[in-house]
Amino acid sequence: MTRARAVACSNIALAKYWGKASVAENLPATPSLSLTLAGLRTITEVEVDPSLSCDHAELDGAVLTGRPLERVAAMLDRLRARAGVSTSARVVSRNHFPTAAGLASSASGFAALALAGARAFGLDLPLETLSDIARASSASAARSLFGGFVALPAGGRCAERVASGEHFPLSMVVTLTAKGAKAIGSTQGMQHTAATSPYYAPWVSHSPKLFDEVRRGVLERDFERLGVAMEQSALMMHASMLAASPAVIYLTPTTLAVMAAVRELRAAGTPAFYTMDAGPHVKVLTLPEHAARVAACVEAVPGVERTVVTGSGPDAALTDEDPRSGE
Ligand code: DP6
Repeated sequence: MTRARAVACSNIALAKYWGKASVAENLPATPSLSLTLAGLRTITEVEVDPSLSCDHAELDGAVLTGRPLERVAAMLDRLRARAGVSTSARVVSRNHFPTAAGLASSASGFAALALAGARAFGLDLPLETLSDIARASSASAARSLFGGFVALPAGGRCAERVASGEHFPLSMVVTLTAKGAKAIGSTQGMQHTAATSPYYAPWVSHSPKLFDEVRRGVLERDFERLGVAMEQSALMMHASMLAASPAVIYLTPTTLAVMAAVRELRAAGTPAFYTMDAGPHVKVLTLPEHAARVAACVEAVPGVERTVVTGSGPDAALTDEDPRSGE
């Protein structure tokens, strides 16, 4: 086969990955556990084309150049090496959510690219192997090959499913607090934190405890336990960044206002907990029956652009969907 299309959903880490055990191999220093989200999807087509002299890639209609193109080509190189071929490829990808704004679009992007690229180069690989290939490009992408609740161990090469989404149905109210791309990418942000923050080592050594709590919360369907540990994981990760020199600050006044609104909701009896990644947006985890109320509450916070309410998504899969067609 010379052309293949794949769809992968993004994921939000409930227990965070922040820091690398090996920079050369891109192995995570902390164990992470995520929820794959149906509402944040990437569709990617890879076409192997012998007439091309180098790889060509397009994301949301814009031609990639520089570092983003190099990252795509590096993954294609790994796939070519496995397949024993040297042909260049044309990649067309579409994100069905805002790109590079801290919504982990690289996660679904590299997961979809791993699957579509493997097929296009004639490889039929299991999800575990594709997860390993995706991890080398972006560690959070390793988790997006699997649906539901997914773990990537510290030092781990591939992610593993912890539980299906049906095991514990949850809603994520993705709250967009700003327009546009983030200032510092997560790779750079975590490297800088590791190099300069005195709070980095305590974060790495404490993260397995938070991971275990999140995992137990999921397995035992204990929302309170899950939520408390999830918030602490996010805040401890951000604390490590705030203590870097100079500080890495992704949180804005609107981020803090949404966090306060969630705490107020909780104090008034609505189960809801927040988490933030390498960006200003807030993802609020709640039970499905409370999602509409949580969304209405955070949308009323000044500065909030909009919300996307979504639940657990499936494994990455081959698709007929054309990334050139819009929403
Ligand atoms: C804050 O996976 O983007 O979203 O491996 O360097 O590409 P690289 O980093 P990336 O980092 C994601 C960090 C995070 C937390 C998480 O998703 O676990």
